[in-house]
Amino acid sequence: MEGSLRIQGSKNAALPILAASLLCPLHCELLRVPRLSDVDAALSILRSLGCRADQQPEGVYIDSTEVSCCSIPPALMEQMRSSVIFMGALLARFGEAWLSMPGGCKLGKRPIDLHLTAMRSLGAEIETENGSLHCRAQKLRGSEIELPFPSVGATENAMLAACGAKGETLIRGAAREPEIVTLQAFLRAMGAEIEGAGSPCIRIGGLRPVKSLRFAVGADRIAAATFACAVACCGGDVELRGVDARQISALLHFLNAAGCDIITKNRVLRIRAQGRLTAVGPVVTEPYPGFPTDAQPLLMAAMLRARGRTFIRETIFEQRFRQAPELCRLGARIRVDGRTAEILGVEALHGAALAATDLRGGAAMILAALSAEGESTVLDEGHIRRGYEDLELCLESLGANILLEG
Ligand code: EPZ
Repeated sequence: MEGSLRIQGSKNAALPILAASLLCPLHCELLRVPRLSDVDAALSILRSLGCRADQQPEGVYIDSTEVSCCSIPPALMEQMRSSVIFMGALLARFGEAWLSMPGGCKLGKRPIDLHLTAMRSLGAEIETENGSLHCRAQKLRGSEIELPFPSVGATENAMLAACGAKGETLIRGAAREPEIVTLQAFLRAMGAEIEGAGSPCIRIGGLRPVKSLRFAVGADRIAAATFACAVACCGGDVELRGVDARQISALLHFLNAAGCDIITKNRVLRIRAQGRLTAVGPVVTEPYPGFPTDAQPLLMAAMLRARGRTFIRETIFEQRFRQAPELCRLGARIRVDGRTAEILGVEALHGAALAATDLRGGAAMILAALSAEGESTVLDEGHIRRGYEDLELCLESLGANILLEG
């Protein structure tokens, strides 16, 4: 692989920001929002609530001044995981929300108990029946929210709801992901008094809303991780532009240990790889700043032909090795035992017919197939487009022989 690529805007930063645009009557222009089906789903939810919400080539425009409804249809809720973040925004704006269980990649149970506990801490009453949720709050009141696990989504929901609460809120045990820091920056631009994002304790003091704002999201760190692992899989010399390499330093540490050259300068990440890599590990997925679970399938793909045995332990999701059996169709040797996967590197992989299991697993299959001898197919029923903007065109621009059909 050779060439240079500007990395798309961050899906996981943009999605909670789209929900946050509901918090107050606002004219909002968002830049660098990636063109993805998850973004389409979020814009559909905003429109179903009465907003104007359009994505143009130069940006996303939202007018949330006329929001007239606080009920989200189940058909929209089930399209992605982030739909649950609208709960906090609707409670803050209206004191009421009707929604149902969110969708998203099937990586395990993915309950929303931490979200509901956080809303209840702020004074919301929530009735659940057959998967539907009715949330009400006469007036949200600031409180101390203790998250027993640094859930990204629960932290985001609590931040949004707290913006509508009377009095100060502390979120202890908060997630520290870069997307949380970006959400804080957006909320500040909206007129929120909020600090501490990136640390385990976030303080929200309330919201004095502006009427309009313009905001740019940063690069998608997992998209950057994906292309870095593509070079590790196939070899080459590639520059990724607009990237804050610090946000994927845990992954880059392992790619470097495996034999890749990593050079970072002024938001450009250059990665070079040639010849057979060396197995790494043990790799343990953890909340940020630990090794990101979303990069786990991608590093697995990069290690399939490495010399030696790589051990990966997945601690975040119960079922996040679903890509393993598909990768074995290429001739990979992967043994999964509960939350641990052992990869015995092979000399070569061969082409096969694969079926994407989820967003990052599907991307991992494409990377592995590109490193195999012979032709492969990856059947995808919409997983990949949820999180990658033109993945096949980006890979093709770096020299990949890839064709999107259907
Ligand atoms: C976000 O999901 C990301 N999605 C995921 O990325 C990412 O893998 C995950 O954070 C972890 O980093 C978006 O931002 C849209 P969690 P989220 O709440 O918020 C359990 C991708 O590929 N949990 O931090 O759903 C949960 O079951 C996606 O872009 C509860 O038990 O993640 C999981 O085991 C995949 N109760 C763990 O916590 C709850 O109420 C982490 O979940 C909430 C979560």
